[in-house]
Amino acid sequence: MMLEIRNLVVAKDGKRILKGIDLSLKNGSIHAVMGPNGAGKSTLAKVLAGDSSYEILQGEILFQGEDILELEPEERAHKGLFMGFQYPIEIPGITNVQFLLAALNAKKKATGQEPLTEEEFQRFLEVKMAAAQIKKEFTERNINEGFSGGEKKRNEILQMSILDPVLAILDETDSGLDIDAMKIVAKGVNDFMQPSKSLLLITHYQRLLDYIKPDFVHVLIDGKIAHSGNASLALELEAKGYDWLVDTQECL
Ligand SMILES: Nc1ncnc2c1ncn2[C@@H]1O[C@H](COP(=O)(O)OP(=O)(O)O)[C@@H](O)[C@H]1O
Ligand SMILES: [Mg+2]
Repeated sequence: MMLEIRNLVVAKDGKRILKGIDLSLKNGSIHAVMGPNGAGKSTLAKVLAGDSSYEILQGEILFQGEDILELEPEERAHKGLFMGFQYPIEIPGITNVQFLLAALNAKKKATGQEPLTEEEFQRFLEVKMAAAQIKKEFTERNINEGFSGGEKKRNEILQMSILDPVLAILDETDSGLDIDAMKIVAKGVNDFMQPSKSLLLITHYQRLLDYIKPDFVHVLIDGKIAHSGNASLALELEAKGYDWLVDTQECL
């Protein structure tokens, strides 16, 4: 199993946000998490990535069978977890190339591999950038500074393809994406997917799921998974919204 989340209860500033999440991702599977604003989707992603500003009150997170709750974000990343942020931070003074090389070599070091030289990395990067359809000047800009929403997303996909994680968590990948950029993101994700990899795709738009076919769709409402289904659930949500699930839950 790639990821097992068991009865995860999480609070921030004393307020419970996740109220008992159970979720299992097999190798090779794509799971989409949908749900209304404020449901806790981004919280789930950040807790998985290791954001220490959240309080874990109960539960377990097993990544490839290993409990990762005590691990720092970079330790999780070195084990093959990748998290794309909904609002990527801007880092003045650090170019994209510097950032990507540092991140890749830190991962290589942690897994006992030889680091790449700058020249080796340049060649590797050019191939990856061509695949993500990213212009060359992009790499010399400071990371995420002044990037448009679409550019940030392309950059996130580039980071993912360079770091080559086993589990990618993408949060709201479609926000700020026009159709062309969305297709590039979808291509990045579809190129990434293999039987040994998994994707947790967090979104509140159905549109992206026209391009990335999830094996499972989960609806998160008020910190709980209210409903799970296959890809057709996304279409149903598009047509019916979330209210019918809120009502169902209250009847139980
Ligand atoms: N710093 C914070 N302190 C307290 N509550 C927060 C904080 N940040 C987010 N929340 C609350 O956590 C809940 C879940 O937020 P979030 O995970 O961003 O939801 P989603 O991504 O599904 O829109 C929201 O109700 C929000 O008000
Ligand atoms: Mg969110």
